[in-house]
Amino acid sequence: METILIVEDHEGLAKMLTQALSDAHYEVLWAKDGREGIAFIQTERLDLVVTDLKLPYKTGIDVLHAAKEHYAAMPVIIMTAHGSFDIAVKAVKEGAYDFIAKPFEPDHLLLQIEKALEKQRLLKENLVLRETFSSHLAFPKIIGKSPEMLNILEQARKVAQGKTTVLLLGESGTGKELFARAVHMLSPRKDESLITINCAAIPHDLLESELFGHEKGAFTGAIGKKIGKFELADKGTIFLDEIGDMELSLQSKLLRVLEENSLIRVGGTTRIPINVRVVAATNRGLPKLIEQKRFREDLYYRLNVFPLSIPALRERTEDIPAMVQHFVDHFAREMNKEVKPLSKNALNLLMEHPWTGNVRELQNTIERATILSDGNMILPEHLALRTRADQLTHIKEIPLEGSLHEVSSAASRMIETRMIKKVLMKTDGNKSRAAEILQVSYKTLLTKIKDYAIEKPTQT
Ligand SMILES: Nc1ncnc2c1ncn2[C@@H]1O[C@H](COP(=O)(O)OP(=O)(O)OP(=O)(O)O)[C@@H](O)[C@H]1O
Ligand SMILES: [Mg+2]
Repeated sequence: METILIVEDHEGLAKMLTQALSDAHYEVLWAKDGREGIAFIQTERLDLVVTDLKLPYKTGIDVLHAAKEHYAAMPVIIMTAHGSFDIAVKAVKEGAYDFIAKPFEPDHLLLQIEKALEKQRLLKENLVLRETFSSHLAFPKIIGKSPEMLNILEQARKVAQGKTTVLLLGESGTGKELFARAVHMLSPRKDESLITINCAAIPHDLLESELFGHEKGAFTGAIGKKIGKFELADKGTIFLDEIGDMELSLQSKLLRVLEENSLIRVGGTTRIPINVRVVAATNRGLPKLIEQKRFREDLYYRLNVFPLSIPALRERTEDIPAMVQHFVDHFAREMNKEVKPLSKNALNLLMEHPWTGNVRELQNTIERATILSDGNMILPEHLALRTRADQLTHIKEIPLEGSLHEVSSAASRMIETRMIKKVLMKTDGNKSRAAEILQVSYKTLLTKIKDYAIEKPTQT
């Protein structure tokens, strides 16, 4: 239910409007002067303000300014009496949604309110759409006919029907995000939004307000009100990626939100009910993190209602040929090249590779091969698997051949890999802390970990 504030000093008119708006199922607050109106704006959760222009203590313009300052997108409707038309026009120029001349029919005001709120809803939806588009919401193509994959797909299909929390487990690159999307798309919520948040990619001090939103002035830099991901995901699904990287203090807050199905924005006081399906994922061993007191046991039980463990690619090698075919087709199309078959040796190499980076590594390998293959077949040399492994681990095996640039970039990859591994070991797999120590951005580190196929030390 939306809350509307009426700022009006004539009690008779205020009562009539309150009645009309309540009948139309709005929650109504009445302030009898400008000062009281501004106080409401600062303390209550409002969706729209209707204000008279001439008021005791403060004017309607002051009320308008206070509303805009509190939340720039707040719709404000100005009621004007005969003779203050000019001021009303000025108010619209200063950001009022519209004005209405007294005397008016309550139905007329209702219509304006409805329109203003509809605009507001569109704005919010727009925000959701932008989120949704960035995660290109089509049903994901999941390749795999191995018994393991068929079993997981079947389980995903079943659990998707309800609102049960799903916890996706598996090494990096196994397809957790893919399955999160699948669970959403197979659920009755599929037409609502799927909002993804990567808990490791956002600095700890910002994550709380990303998740739960904040009120204006909640902390330095909180210029306006912000709607968090949980509110954006209302009626839909939220995907909490890399949940194992969330800080303990935030874990407690998350637990409370999940248990009470409601949240309080940072710096706020009002409890806002939410209806969200939670899917979480991690490639870290949560039981071990619990042992180390880095993950809350109660949150673990709250999330681990329906775990889906996606096996590593090396444990389902029979899926490799179909995946290779899929990626070969995909990249050939993308690069406008002819689809080329793999030589028998090339396929054998792919079947035997350990794939520590799982499907993502396989995908990258095929992309590279598609670029490199110049004949009519993809050959082992196009896969560049051996050399890559050599570059990654053994400095002595960097062949002193090719251009200086190639050799030095191989050497730098090798040394970077070793350094990253060492630091990850030290931070027990915590990537944001590792990025701090290495003095690179989190994103850079993530890219390198993926490119160099570095395994996490805490993987289980
Ligand atoms: N079964 C599959 N069929 C087709 N593509 C897949 C499959 N599994 C994974 N992929 C592709 O592999 C890549 C990695 O998958 P995804 O991002 O879902 O992995 P992840 O488990 O979330 O990894 P990380 O832990 O590193 O975030 C994606 O491009 C995804 O589309
Ligand atoms: Mg992922």
